[in-house]
Amino acid sequence: MKFIAFNVRQDEQPYFESWAQQNQIEVKTVSGSLTNSSLKQVDGYDGVLALQTGKYPAEMFKDFKKYGVKVLSIRNVGTDNVDLAAAEANGVLVTNVPAYSPNAIAEFSVTQLLQLLRNTTVFRQKVAEQDFRWAPYVGKELRNLTVGVIGTGRIGRAAINIYRGFGAKVIAYDLYPNAQLQKEGIYVASYDDLFAQADVVTLHMPATAADRHLLNAQAFAKMKKGVYLINTARGTLVDTQALLAALKSGKVAGAALDTYEGESSLFNHDLRGQQIKDPVFNELMRQPNVLVTPHIAFYTTTAVENMVLISLNSAKSVCKTGTAETIVKIH
Ligand code: COI
Repeated sequence: MKFIAFNVRQDEQPYFESWAQQNQIEVKTVSGSLTNSSLKQVDGYDGVLALQTGKYPAEMFKDFKKYGVKVLSIRNVGTDNVDLAAAEANGVLVTNVPAYSPNAIAEFSVTQLLQLLRNTTVFRQKVAEQDFRWAPYVGKELRNLTVGVIGTGRIGRAAINIYRGFGAKVIAYDLYPNAQLQKEGIYVASYDDLFAQADVVTLHMPATAADRHLLNAQAFAKMKKGVYLINTARGTLVDTQALLAALKSGKVAGAALDTYEGESSLFNHDLRGQQIKDPVFNELMRQPNVLVTPHIAFYTTTAVENMVLISLNSAKSVCKTGTAETIVKIH
């Protein structure tokens, strides 16, 4: 049994090495992404490990079959970019890491909201310019706000606990409600109810084709004036042009975006000194009340270790037993 891992960063390397040594299994690590041009490298490997926000298209799985790959183990949770039907058709099992650290993402979401509420980036800029005045950047306290959590899986539930700790009123919506939260009466009946009541809308749901641009012009129109948006989930959930209009009209007071629909050519790339050719993204970056971060909500030591080790264990399990607890099923 031998594996090849793509997109491996320096901070992941020690975990790959110690696992390979402990398990006596060869794991080749490469820093590049899994693309059509790098695909030949998988020849002869039983398992492929990858972490990318770009696509894993149907053709990739045909080649996996040709090269004898049995399993694709992605080191993250979301599988919206994986053609699962093509994987199945070519006899390739796909595993993910469903819970590497829900708190990592939840904590980051709250961090970003607090920054927006207290105008910290504005003050950092002002202080750098020796402008030490306060007004008009008066902040808001979380305990006076209603936070609307969309998606109450592991990450959404971790976020709910943190927001409750701050004394915020938390409401939630999920197509598949959690039994305990339902008992606690946290759910509203519809997206529209959540939009009408929430001072903060925070996304913690997976992306499906049906939910593309869930937050569009109509959705923003239904929200309270001065709402804050936090998106650490998936860029496709938000119509960015509609968000820009809502920011400019004051409907949305601030947005923290750790994901963006066209992020795969931007995030986790060094583009210093280069002109970015995405006018919508450039416009977003110019907004004073938008915090853009490059998909780093997950990025903690705990999460990174779990992502590497759990994905390797899954790949090993598939190769040894034909299955793993983390197999991703087509819904
Ligand atoms: C996920 O786990 O799905 C994430 O969004 C993390 C990212 C590095 C792909």
